[in-house]
Amino acid sequence: MSVAQEQNPAETAAPEKDAPKDMKDIVALCKRRGFIFPASDIYGGINGFWDYGPLGVELKNNLRDLWWKHMVTCPPIGPAGTAYEGQPVDIVGLDSAIIQNPKAWEASGHVGGFSDPMVDCRETKLRYRADHLTAYSWKKGNPDKPVYIALQDGMENEDKIKRLKKLGFSQDLAEYDTIPLTDDRITSNLDKVYGPDAKEIGTLTPPKQFNLMFHTFIGATGGEDNKAYLRPETAQGIFLNFKNVVDSSRVRIPFGIAQIGKAFRNEVNPRNFIFRSREFEQMEMEWFCHPDEVKIWRDFWFAERTKFWKAIGLKSDNLRMRDHDSDELSHYAKAGLGTADIEYRFPFTAPDFGELEGIAHRCDFDLTQHQKHSGVKLEYQDPVTQEKFTPHVIEPAAGLTRGVLAMITEAYTPDPSRPSGVYLNLHPALAPKKAAILPLTAKDQHPVIATKLYMELRNEFAIDLDIKQNIGKRYARQDEIGTPYCFTIDDQTVTDNTVTVRERNTMKQERIPLDSVADYLRKNIRAV
Ligand code: GAP
Repeated sequence: MSVAQEQNPAETAAPEKDAPKDMKDIVALCKRRGFIFPASDIYGGINGFWDYGPLGVELKNNLRDLWWKHMVTCPPIGPAGTAYEGQPVDIVGLDSAIIQNPKAWEASGHVGGFSDPMVDCRETKLRYRADHLTAYSWKKGNPDKPVYIALQDGMENEDKIKRLKKLGFSQDLAEYDTIPLTDDRITSNLDKVYGPDAKEIGTLTPPKQFNLMFHTFIGATGGEDNKAYLRPETAQGIFLNFKNVVDSSRVRIPFGIAQIGKAFRNEVNPRNFIFRSREFEQMEMEWFCHPDEVKIWRDFWFAERTKFWKAIGLKSDNLRMRDHDSDELSHYAKAGLGTADIEYRFPFTAPDFGELEGIAHRCDFDLTQHQKHSGVKLEYQDPVTQEKFTPHVIEPAAGLTRGVLAMITEAYTPDPSRPSGVYLNLHPALAPKKAAILPLTAKDQHPVIATKLYMELRNEFAIDLDIKQNIGKRYARQDEIGTPYCFTIDDQTVTDNTVTVRERNTMKQERIPLDSVADYLRKNIRAV
C-alpha cells in the first residue's frame, strides 16, 4: 500500500511543524494565491473588511458545509447515560434576515448594552479599545511622579521595545510594571500616560462606552424613526423565529435551530487580519432545553464542538477550554452556568490563546425578553407531560471566518526543502481543490488525456486542471494552496495508461492506473 493510501495527508507528519509561523507570511500567501484580499484593495482598503478570493471562498464554504453537516444534516448522537443516548439529536436550520425590527435589538439588550470601552487620542486622532491597552511604567522612575506608556496588547515584544526606545525609555521589558489601562490608578492619572502612538503625554481621553452596532435607515425618508441595525449576531434571528419553528415543524424540546451568516460589529480596533473584523460570519446554534437539563447539554455541546475542530485539523496542543471570568460574561449569560470558550493558539496570541467559539448558557434571557417586548407568548408546552415552561438555551457560537483563519494558520507549514518553501497542510475535506491534474507538456496527447480525466472527475471532486508553466512551478502552486494530490500525465501515460500521483505532505510519488484515479480519491478524501 502506498504512503498516500495509508495516511490522510492532513495527518502525516509535517517536517517543520513547530517552526514559528509569521502572520506577515500567512497574510502574503493569502493574497498571492487568492484566498483573502483587503476589501476595496484598489482604493487602499477599508479597515476591518475583507474579501474572500477564488480559493478563500471555496475553503470558507467547505468549513461552512462541514459545520452544517455536523449540526443539521448529520447531528451527533445524544449524550451517553441519558434518555437521549443512541439517537441523533434534533436540529433544524434557519436563514433569517440581517435587518430585523429595531425593537428586537432593544429587547435583546444590544441597543443598551452591546458596547466596548474606548479611548481616543487627541493628538493622533486614533481610537483604541481601552481594555486592549496596558500601561507600562518604568520601575526605576520617580515613584511620586510615575510616567506610563500605553501599549496595545498582542503587540510583538520587539515592537513594544521599539516604541519604548523611541520615547527614550529603557528597552528592558522586565524593568516595567504593567497595569491595565482601565484600572482606576491609570484612568485617574491620564495626564501621565503616553498614548500608543502619541508623541506628547496626556492626550488620551477617559474611556467611554461605544455601541458596536452598525445602523442604517430604512426607506427613502430616512430619519431617526426609520433607524434600523445590521445584526451583530445571528442568534437573535433564531429567538425571533422560535415560535414559528415550533408551530411549523415537528421539533420537540430538546432541539436546536442552527444558522450561518453575516454579522456586523463596529469594532473599535479591528485587528489581526480577519480575526477581529467589522463584517464577519458566524455559525451559531441555539439549543432549547428544559431548565433541569442545562448541565447535561452544556457538557455535551462543549465536548462535541471540541471534537469537531479536532476532526477537521486543529491540533489538541493548540486548543484549550477557558471559562469566562464573571466580569467578562455577556449580559445574557450573567446568571446560570456562564460561558466557556474553545480557544485556539493563533500565531499572534502564542504562547497564549484566542477565542474561536463560545459555549454560553443564555438561560431563558432572550425568549423572556422577546416575550416581554413583543407581547407574544414564547412559552413551550410539553406535549406529553403538559408542563409549560420557558426553555433554557445552550449556545455554541463559532466564527466561520475566524475558523478559516484557524484552519489556514494551523495548515501553514514552512518547509525550506521544497521550491515553494511552504505548503498548506489542510485537511482534504477543507482543501479548496482535492486534486490537480497536470499534463507534463502542453502538447502531444498529454492535455487531451488530462482534460478527459478532468471531465470524469469534476462532477464528484473539486479538481484543478492546470496546463501552463513548468511542472515544478505547478507543484509549488498546488502545495501553497493545499491541494492534497497531484496527478501527472506524461509520455508513459500514453503508452501504458498509468499516471504519477504526488502526495502533498510527503512529496512521495508513485504510479497508479489511470482508470483507478477516481477510486484513489474516494479512498483518500475521507468524509468527516
Ligand atoms: N451569539 C453569541 C455571540 O455572538 P460572540 O462570542 O460575540 O458570541 C461568537 O461571537 C463567535 O463569533 C466568536 O467566538 C468569534 O469566533 C466570532 N466573532 C465575534 N466577533 C468577531 C469579529 N469581530 N470578527 C470575527 N469573528 C468574530
